[in-house]
Amino acid sequence: MSKSFVIKGNICQTITPSQLDLHEHAYAVCVDGVSEGVFDTLPQKYAHLPLYDYGDMLIFPGMVDLHIHAPQYAFRGMCMDLELMDWLNRYTFPEEEKYEDLAYAEKAYGIFVDALKKGATTRACIFATRHRYATELLMDLMEKSGLVSYVGKVNMDREASEALTEKNADISAYTTFGWINAVKDKYKNTLPILTPRFIPCCTDKLMEELREIQMAYGIPVQSHLSESKGEIEFVRFLRPDNEFYGDSYNEYDLFGKNDDINTDVKTVMAHCVWSSDEEVGLMRKNGVFVAHCPASNMNLTSGIAPIRKYLDLGLNIGLGTDIAGGHSESVFRAITDAIQVSKMYFRMVDESVRPLIFSEAFYLATMGGGAFFGKVGSFLPGYQFDAVVMDDSVLRHPQPLTLAERMERAVYLGLDEKNIAAKFVSGYNII
Ligand code: GUN
Ligand code: FE
Repeated sequence: MSKSFVIKGNICQTITPSQLDLHEHAYAVCVDGVSEGVFDTLPQKYAHLPLYDYGDMLIFPGMVDLHIHAPQYAFRGMCMDLELMDWLNRYTFPEEEKYEDLAYAEKAYGIFVDALKKGATTRACIFATRHRYATELLMDLMEKSGLVSYVGKVNMDREASEALTEKNADISAYTTFGWINAVKDKYKNTLPILTPRFIPCCTDKLMEELREIQMAYGIPVQSHLSESKGEIEFVRFLRPDNEFYGDSYNEYDLFGKNDDINTDVKTVMAHCVWSSDEEVGLMRKNGVFVAHCPASNMNLTSGIAPIRKYLDLGLNIGLGTDIAGGHSESVFRAITDAIQVSKMYFRMVDESVRPLIFSEAFYLATMGGGAFFGKVGSFLPGYQFDAVVMDDSVLRHPQPLTLAERMERAVYLGLDEKNIAAKFVSGYNII
């Protein structure tokens, strides 16, 4: 399929958090991979383009996963009996050690990329492991998939198993330089992102070196922040001089914009379950993205991130599946989970904080996280043409349904895990 075409079907999107934008039997126009908008009748000037008619199917913008660990896909849905720090030591680090072995990495990453490609995700921010060559292998596979991603070789030089910990900060930095130089111009859709695992695993010296690397290459940053109480306590012990956890990234200019030194480091922090007012204030000021990972926060007994508060404050927020803290790579599932945990927050924690509604959570999964990738997450003119087409007739029902009902049901019933009829990324038809 060429990169200029028209698709026809039931187009469902959110261009603001507060409401659905629905168009029955409408046209979405793609010119050179970029959306021209949605039209109820096709303007004459597009009449010459190839038209693909998907009948009564649903058409959504592609889903954006702002936080997922590729090497953990192998043990998704298992090992759910521990909290974060013990879970990392007992299950996660031993699994990640295996990626020293490229044959294992190829097999495991092949399964991961295949799964991502088959679902509704079109873009993702991905953690690999600390291993350079396995990370490059993952990037090769991601590029072949046609999906768009940021992929990070993880940096970690303390507080993990001996086999997984990099010997020292210099070796970690040296390996990272080698990796970035090898991949930075190699791909069209697969870009490197600096990935300090989290403060407990990174010495001060390593953080210094990562600051230098970020400044040298200007690449974005991803990490974890204020996920669990045990982790936060440990960070307080490791870095007593920082007023709050996020300050320890900010100290090394790895925390969004910094007007004092005129830098703008695109940054996404996963979780932010327990962020203090000061931390939230700095994220807001610096434009740091929050990757909200509700399934992981439930599975690891971390808590409930107050996303409604963050939304009201105007933070940048997207959704993450956080495989394997989260057990499913489905962003539809993350939408449902985000709504459900927000209801529990309302009922159990604070009844002045109203739960998320469906359109808000759908917005987070599309335009919210999409902003990390530029103009992404809707069919508004000028946006990257990322679309998923689904046949919801497999979800049987006896009564007539409105398009709004069909959209909500497709998400709640996990249609992305059942039946993707077509998928487009920047206008490329990858399914
Ligand atoms: N914090 C540091 N590493 C990890 C990880 O692999 N998963 C989660 N959920 N949190 C982390
Ligand atoms: Fe994570």
